[in-house]
Amino acid sequence: MQRVMIIGAAGLLGQYLTAKAVERGLDVTGTFRSTRPEQKEVPLVHLDLTDPYAVETAIARASPDVVFLPSALTNVDECETHPQQAWAVNAEGTFNVASACKSVGARLFYISTDYVFNGEKGEKYYEFDTPDPVSVYGQTKLEGERLTLDANRRNIVARVSVLYGWNRVSGKTNFVTWVINELRRGSEVKLFGDQSVTPTYVPNAADVMLTMAEMNGTGLYHVAGPNCMNRYEMGLRIAEEFGLNVSLCKRVRTEDVALPAKRGRVTCLDINRVQAEFNITMTSFAAGLADMKATE
Ligand SMILES: NC(=O)c1ccc[n+]([C@@H]2O[C@H](COP(=O)([O-])OP(=O)(O)OC[C@H]3O[C@@H](n4cnc5c(N)ncnc54)[C@H](OP(=O)(O)O)[C@@H]3O)[C@@H](O)[C@H]2O)c1
Repeated sequence: MQRVMIIGAAGLLGQYLTAKAVERGLDVTGTFRSTRPEQKEVPLVHLDLTDPYAVETAIARASPDVVFLPSALTNVDECETHPQQAWAVNAEGTFNVASACKSVGARLFYISTDYVFNGEKGEKYYEFDTPDPVSVYGQTKLEGERLTLDANRRNIVARVSVLYGWNRVSGKTNFVTWVINELRRGSEVKLFGDQSVTPTYVPNAADVMLTMAEMNGTGLYHVAGPNCMNRYEMGLRIAEEFGLNVSLCKRVRTEDVALPAKRGRVTCLDINRVQAEFNITMTSFAAGLADMKATE
């Protein structure tokens, strides 16, 4: 793998994929839509996934070996209230990229989500468990997975779960930075005690994904942190690590808060496959938070 293209170099995962691909000495092209990242080493092209001609042209010009697709409509509630837009970006946009990759012989590395599962299993999900999304976001991301895997048997899908880390490109928060910001302001945070996930440290996930692509992984993998924990527990760990007021974390139940999209109860991901096949260890929540504290 020499040349990589990162579609969405300004997103949370996209910015780390870009930076770490540069660190590895790869020839990188990035794309952006509304936010242009300050990347001096990387050529950047404007790209809207929903424009098939633009996608085809950009991928043909860059002629990459691997295309990473972290771009998506990632706001779960916005997808629920704007389903057509969600399908256009997450499913049709993926089709555009998968087709363009096929035309130039590039492999597609698609990023998916634990929200393809309904959360009713009550424990970690394996790659072979049957998806059953309960939201438009989950449905559209699952369709993106299918389109990716159907297009080329050398393509890869990596499901992640609640990405966290410092956003160096934009002010957009993720679960961990949102909790830190609110607690620093002295505001209470309502945290679901009945929604468990496997928080995934973005710098670690980006590194692992590049390794997977370099080592010619194919098919479906779960790429997440090792700890299955609920959002209230996550809030307590964040407050403790950053020396913030733990009592501002308020435990709530899913039914106490009206949100447009449904969420699963336990959408934790089992990561044995990725750890064994690529001989890697995914970063724990404690280690990820400690690294954030050290690198703020
Ligand atoms: N964040 C999580 O907790 C989480 C959990 C599970 C799975 N995932 C998956 O992981 C991946 C990365 O998530 P993230 O949190 O890093 O994403 P993010 O920070 O929300 O970034 C999403 C990116 O998608 C781009 N985008 C949206 N619509 C586009 C379009 N029509 N054309 C081109 N680009 C478009 C955005 O560009 P602009 O902002 O410039 O429009 C942005 O750069 C996503 O596929 C997501 O579904 C995320």
